[in-house]
Amino acid sequence: MNVSVGIDALSFYTPAYFLDLGLLAEARHVDHQKYLAGLGQERMAVAPPDEDIVTMGASAARPLLDMTDPDCIDWVLFATETGVDQSKAAAMFVHGLLGLGPRCRVVEIKQACYSGTAALRMAADWARRHPGRRALIIASDIARYELCSPGEPTQGAGAVAMLVGANPGILALDDEAGLYAEDVLDFWRPNYRETALVDGQYSTRVYLSALEQTWRHYVALTGRKWTDFCRYCFHLPFTRIAEKGLVRLARMDGGPNPSSDEIRRLVGETLTYNRVTGNTYAASLYEGLTSLLDTAEEDLSGKRIALFSYGSGCTAEFFSGTVMGGYRQRLRGAVHRAMLDSRAALEYQQYEDIMNLPFPVDGGEHVFAQYRTGPYRLAGISQHKRVYETL
Ligand code: HMG
Repeated sequence: MNVSVGIDALSFYTPAYFLDLGLLAEARHVDHQKYLAGLGQERMAVAPPDEDIVTMGASAARPLLDMTDPDCIDWVLFATETGVDQSKAAAMFVHGLLGLGPRCRVVEIKQACYSGTAALRMAADWARRHPGRRALIIASDIARYELCSPGEPTQGAGAVAMLVGANPGILALDDEAGLYAEDVLDFWRPNYRETALVDGQYSTRVYLSALEQTWRHYVALTGRKWTDFCRYCFHLPFTRIAEKGLVRLARMDGGPNPSSDEIRRLVGETLTYNRVTGNTYAASLYEGLTSLLDTAEEDLSGKRIALFSYGSGCTAEFFSGTVMGGYRQRLRGAVHRAMLDSRAALEYQQYEDIMNLPFPVDGGEHVFAQYRTGPYRLAGISQHKRVYETL
């Protein structure tokens, strides 16, 4: 019997602060339209000093525990490229904060922005053999580049948590997936650096050529055409890339470039959240999926959507899934909207102060000032140990 597997529940979290890119444009003496129209970004989420990938991930995951029996969770898979420890998995901290039981596999996985998809596919394959059980996947990242670098306006922060299992309530994944892997250096962050290094223009070219490669593989496996999907969710380092991706696919299929109306119909709703949070790396694709499902007026039940996952370095995957009937009852759109609408706007200098704040590495006792956060915060560092607090 072919059991359907996929995403059963979905929850998104982003910090309570943002910088309007108009202020950044002014500070960098750049035309604001470059950010708004050229990159497709309005705001960037800024994590305060007492928020990190763990607090964001736990805050995203917390509401999902009301949607399943926590004792059914056999895996906590934490996808990130901005890990807080070289040894201990961020998932372990989250496991503790959420009070999950001891019969659980708890790990962190990394391959740039692709790791959330690796977690999803591994969990889905496992779920087929364990109906009734659930994997908790958390993708959480803080995207940071050097101040004044070209990547700066694409920074962001956020997390998406997903429950994955058999007979899912939101999205049943298709088995076939187009894959591509190639050892390249388009974006990387050596262990000794806080901020990522990137060859920006090159990374965009590699992203689009990886899209072509995965699409070819996917078409060879399924025979589908680019017009066979009702919506497209792309990995979104900046939202304008979705348009470039669609144009690339249309050309590969030998058709005309999609019109701006067609582009809006196929990707518009997927961009709403990312446009005001910026890149959330491993979470970005799934933030786009959440945005689509939360904001689409059309009932997407029974419709097939396409997903493209890209992680620099690089690994990419083109895959698809069918939206389940009744999916709307599983969504948390009103909560997500309220969270985005109630964020506090930072002045430019406040943003720069947060970016320049050094992280204590001396092994002493450090208590962090309290900012606005979700239900969890990083209260301080004590003798190199991170101290988390539940509010
Ligand atoms: P840049 O080089 O400063 O920008 O940075 P640009 O000159 O390419 O301009 C960007 C767009 O704005 C262009 O549009 C300009 O024409 C337009 P396009 O030609 O591409 O259609 N523009 C304007 N539009 C309106 N009014 C104006 C104006 N001026 C210019 N006045 C870059 C762009 C993306 C390179 C930079 O932001 C960057 O380095 N970002 C970080 C890297 C990145 O996002 N790469 C994307 C692919 S790699 C990826 O997705 C993986 C990643 O998520 C990490 C991971 O996997 O781990 C990053």
